[in-house]
Amino acid sequence: MKKWIRKLTRLELVLIYFVIIAGSVVRMTGSGMGCPDWPKCFGHLIPPTERDQIEWHPNQEFVKGQIIIVDESLQVAREDFTSASSFSPEHWEKYTKHDYAIFNPFHTWTEYINRLFGALSGIPMLILVFITALYIRKDWRYFALSFMGLFMLGFEAWLGKLVVDGNLIPGSITIHMMGALLIVALLLVQLAMSNRENLPKMSFTPLFKNLFFLSIILTLIQIVIGTQVREQVDHLNEAGIARGSWIENLDWQFYVHRSFSIIVLVLNYWLWKFNKKHQLGFKELNAVMILIGLEVLLGIILNYADVPKFAQPSHLLLGTILLAFQLYAIIRFALAEKSRTILVD
Ligand code: HEM
Repeated sequence: MKKWIRKLTRLELVLIYFVIIAGSVVRMTGSGMGCPDWPKCFGHLIPPTERDQIEWHPNQEFVKGQIIIVDESLQVAREDFTSASSFSPEHWEKYTKHDYAIFNPFHTWTEYINRLFGALSGIPMLILVFITALYIRKDWRYFALSFMGLFMLGFEAWLGKLVVDGNLIPGSITIHMMGALLIVALLLVQLAMSNRENLPKMSFTPLFKNLFFLSIILTLIQIVIGTQVREQVDHLNEAGIARGSWIENLDWQFYVHRSFSIIVLVLNYWLWKFNKKHQLGFKELNAVMILIGLEVLLGIILNYADVPKFAQPSHLLLGTILLAFQLYAIIRFALAEKSRTILVD
């Protein structure tokens, strides 16, 4: 059973990261409004590929909820019907959730693939809930973790729908990001627990432990500020400001974000050196150092090369993978209660 929990948890983690990348690609390409409705797209399960499919035609069957573009506005079918020889407005009502009446198949399909990954990520999580429910008498914690994970996935989908409907609650992007990171954290706990017997030994000093905790908090703060910077970039983009002028239009949060990475880098370098010198067993710190190096490099590219498109999803992805490595190390540490040794500072 544990073997299956482990396999499904790994699969779910990979899918969650695909969802994170897909979401970022949607934003990078400006495809967010590619589907006006949710969960369907122009009222279809499989979205249209040609403009012709979202236009009115005589003697055509339309189904309730189907969306077409008429005179540059979105119209939604009130019921199932077959059109007559001329357009009859009583079968249609204006789609009010937003007025983005442009059909761009690339945007539509990019948004749709993003949703597919979202839906796909629900499958292993659902199976995990079922499997861990069978295991509940032996160990209820797996069920609790999977159930919370499923709940959070539902919450993320709901928040995604609010964004599509145009109800941009202030900070919704930051909340969305925190939600995704919480799902990653729950999965990492589940993964480490299901592999508990094979977890290698770890040693620590109280100072190292406290600074390690601090490094995780600093990464989290850095991600939150980064997400705020990204919200600003989104607003500049929507306001039609040219890409080349984004950086100069960012406020103090960007400068805090940029300078903060020096503290993150220095602290993690100290942890990495200390871990190596005293053989503490925090092997994730090697990956953490490489990821921070790459993340800062991407930050510099974003800064000096006018926010190139490729660097946006990469910067986001590496930042979230970085946090995952740090979290996994601390979870392993917490689980290794009996097999860890305290060294004197
Ligand atoms: C440890 C170091 C860093 C971490 C963990 C980090 C993390 C992040 C995260 C999570 C975002 C939000 C991305 C999104 O939601 O799409 C972000 C955005 C951003 N970061 Fe960083 N960052 C770091 C260092 C830097 C540095 C050194 C710079 C500049 C020199 C920088 C510049 C930016 C810019 C310009 C954005 C907005 C990018 C966009 O709109 O896609 N970052 N950062």
